[in-house]
Amino acid sequence: MNASIAIAPIEPAEIEAAVRIFFDGFGDNVRRLYGDPPKPDAMVDVWTFARALEPGGFLAAHVDGRLVGYALFTSSVHTLQRAALTSGCVFAWGLRAITGRYGLRWSALFGQLWNKMLFAGSSSAYRTTGDAQLLNIAVASSARGHGAATLLVAQGLRYLHTRGIEEVRLEVQPDNAPAIAAYTRCGFHERGRLRNVYGDWIVMTARPPA
Ligand SMILES: CC(C)(COP(=O)(O)OP(=O)(O)OC[C@H]1O[C@@H](n2cnc3c(N)ncnc32)[C@H](O)[C@@H]1OP(=O)(O)O)[C@@H](O)C(=O)NCCC(=O)NCCS
Repeated sequence: MNASIAIAPIEPAEIEAAVRIFFDGFGDNVRRLYGDPPKPDAMVDVWTFARALEPGGFLAAHVDGRLVGYALFTSSVHTLQRAALTSGCVFAWGLRAITGRYGLRWSALFGQLWNKMLFAGSSSAYRTTGDAQLLNIAVASSARGHGAATLLVAQGLRYLHTRGIEEVRLEVQPDNAPAIAAYTRCGFHERGRLRNVYGDWIVMTARPPA
């Protein structure tokens, strides 16, 4: 574990850099959806919204003041979705997509929405207490293997404990050994498996430690 890694809530000005780390980490899937080179705008808008709603759930890892990774937790997926709808943000994002600002490929976008519906349907097979989730995490490839993800997940669990969250869930692909190792080290364990159009997923849950 690297003592020079510092974890703190992400600053709004860092979100674009976090999106670039996301693009780096999720390569082919990103290019399919966002084009090549991908435009960060759609992700920046959605993540800025999530951060405003729950600043403590969106964490940054820094080394010497430089952003090297992030983790986005939510205390409640449904609250996040509801807030995006009731605030009108979903409609604003839709308009920006239609007017071409995001550069999204429409066929890929519809594919993803379909995938989400399938996923939501099968997800209910593994019930948790509440609907807290680790929505996304990535560490810049140049900074991996030094414990940044483990520190981000551990801090995220501590934050969720302060919010009274009893259980948190995530999904990870079975071949993602570094992610599974980091999650396991933080107390996550496998609850079951799902399949969607992107392949197989392990559902893992953890109880934020007191
Ligand atoms: C997954 C990811 C966030 C891990 O970040 P990281 O900062 O390198 O992770 P850590 O250093 O905290 O921990 C990595 C763990 O994986 C282990 N590991 C690293 N490479 C490995 C490999 N090829 N096979 C098995 N284990 C491996 C490390 O030993 C460590 O485990 P340990 O703590 O038990 O020793 C990073 O690889 C990443 O951004 N990947 C792309 C995006 C992604 O897959 N996100 C997760 C989606 S669910």
